[in-house]
Parts: sequence; structure tokens; C-alpha cells
Amino acid sequence: MRTERTIVITGAAGGMGYPFVRRFLDNDDTVVATDTSADALDRLSAEMASDRLFVKPADIAKAEDCDTVADLARETTGRVDVLVNAAGFFPVQGFLEMSVEDWRKIVDINLTGTALMCRAVLPLMTGRGWGRIVTIGSASVNEGVPGQTHYVSAKAGLIGLTRSLAREFGGEGITVNLIAPGVTITPAAAKALPREIQEAQIERRAIKREEKAEDLVGATFFFASPDADFVTGQTLVVDGGLHMD
Ligand SMILES: NC(=O)c1ccc[n+]([C@@H]2O[C@H](COP(=O)([O-])OP(=O)(O)OC[C@H]3O[C@@H](n4cnc5c(N)ncnc54)[C@H](O)[C@@H]3O)[C@@H](O)[C@H]2O)c1
Repeated sequence: MRTERTIVITGAAGGMGYPFVRRFLDNDDTVVATDTSADALDRLSAEMASDRLFVKPADIAKAEDCDTVADLARETTGRVDVLVNAAGFFPVQGFLEMSVEDWRKIVDINLTGTALMCRAVLPLMTGRGWGRIVTIGSASVNEGVPGQTHYVSAKAGLIGLTRSLAREFGGEGITVNLIAPGVTITPAAAKALPREIQEAQIERRAIKREEKAEDLVGATFFFASPDADFVTGQTLVVDGGLHMD
């Protein structure tokens, strides 16, 4: 098992971000954590209480912000071994009520922002023969979701981003994979998604319980590990067996 790696995690102050940060810190890795809010990152730092955790507020939809996150990694250890893209935003909004700005904002955060973070970090990953990009997509792409057309379209785009980057950087020993969670009861999802949608998901799963942020930690850590050296361009659905392809 590799330890003492440099891990960049976006959306680190979110529901999934916390257990991701904790898992890598527990592995003796150094974590560069980013999210939009400095206050939220301060709360994360206080909770984690680790001198191997470094935080940087950034809006991943802005290329210059992504560069400041890469700069912090460069100043801290001079490299990035693993990028975990967990930042996302998933409002519910009818298609005909969406303005062009609404559409662009959601695509900017969920798809373009993820690409911009990859672009900022890859120069710190290449040239060393090993690297990992793990992105949190969404199992919603398998069947679509009314009221989340912008979000589901953006998350579907991440499949193309993942496969194309996997091919472009495979020769560098860099793998690129996507995890597709089902409805996961983080505070943000509990607020955004009606209770009926949450319960309908549980009913259709093979494993009939709520999905929690901790359920995504194992898959994320696996893709980031040497155990997954020969796995790239893949989408792993982690939804308790709702979708089976
Ligand atoms: N919770 C679910 O049901 C569910 C299901 C499938 C996929 N996902 C995906 O999992 C990831 C984590 O979701 P979560 O439930 O922990 O939500 P969350 O809202 O708790 O976490 C997402 C984090 O991303 C951050 N973020 C939003 N816009 C950003 C931006 N422009 N720049 C930087 N950071 C930004 C938010 O501040 C937040 O802390 C997201 O990518 C989400 O789309 C969630």
C-alpha cells in the first residue's frame, strides 16, 4: 500500500468530502483540500486536526482558482499523486424554468470545473509514472432525473472526460476512473431531494437501506491505490445494487 502521497480533494468540506479526507489522512497521506467556503474549510481543519491537511478556498468553475489549488500542492510537496473530484452542485429545477445562466452554472461546476481541476493538477502528476484521478459522477445518468436535466447532462459528460483522459494519460501511468453513487444521504442531498425520491431509491435497491457518504470511501480509496493499477476509464456504480449492467 502506498502512503505519504499528496492527495488533492475538491468538495472537501461537503458530505462526502469529510470521510474522504479522513481516509487519506489515516493512510499517512498529505491532503490539499479545497471547497468554495473558507469558513467551511476552517471547520474541516478543526475537525481533522492534522498537520498533513492543507486547505485552499476555490471555485472550481474558475480556471485561475484551480491554479491556486495546484500552486498550494506545488508549494507543499511539489507533486500530486491523487486527485479526487468530489465537488458538485445538484439543485432541482424544471427544464422549462431553467435560464441559460442556470444551465451554464450547473455545467460549469459539475463538468467544466472538474476538467479545469484535472488540467491544473495534471502537470504535477505527469513525468513520474504514477498518478490517479478519481471523480464522483452520478448513477442518475443511467435513467435520467426529471428536474435535474442540467446536472445529469453534466454528470454524463464526466464519463467522456474520464475515458478520454484515461486514454490520453495512460502512457504516463495515470489512471482515471469515475464513481457513480446513488442518492446518498448527505446533508445537502437530504435538503435538495424530496423524501419520496430518497425512499423510492431504497425500495429499488438490492441492499435496502440509505446510502451514506461512507459507502463511497472504499471505492474511492481502491481506485486511488496500487491495487487498481490496471483499471482505467471505468465507471463504478455504487448504489446498493439499484442499477446492474
Ligand atoms: N448526495 C447524493 O445523493 C449524490 C448522488 C450522486 C452523486 N453525488 C455527487 O457527489 C459529490 C458530493 O456530493 P455531496 O452529497 O457530498 O454534496 P455536498 O454539497 O455536501 O458536497 C459538494 C461540495 O462541493 C462544493 N462545491 C459546489 N460548487 C463548487 C464550486 N464551484 N467550486 C468548488 N466547490 C464547490 C460544495 O461547497 C460542497 O461542499 C458531488 O459531486 C455530487 O454531485 C451526490
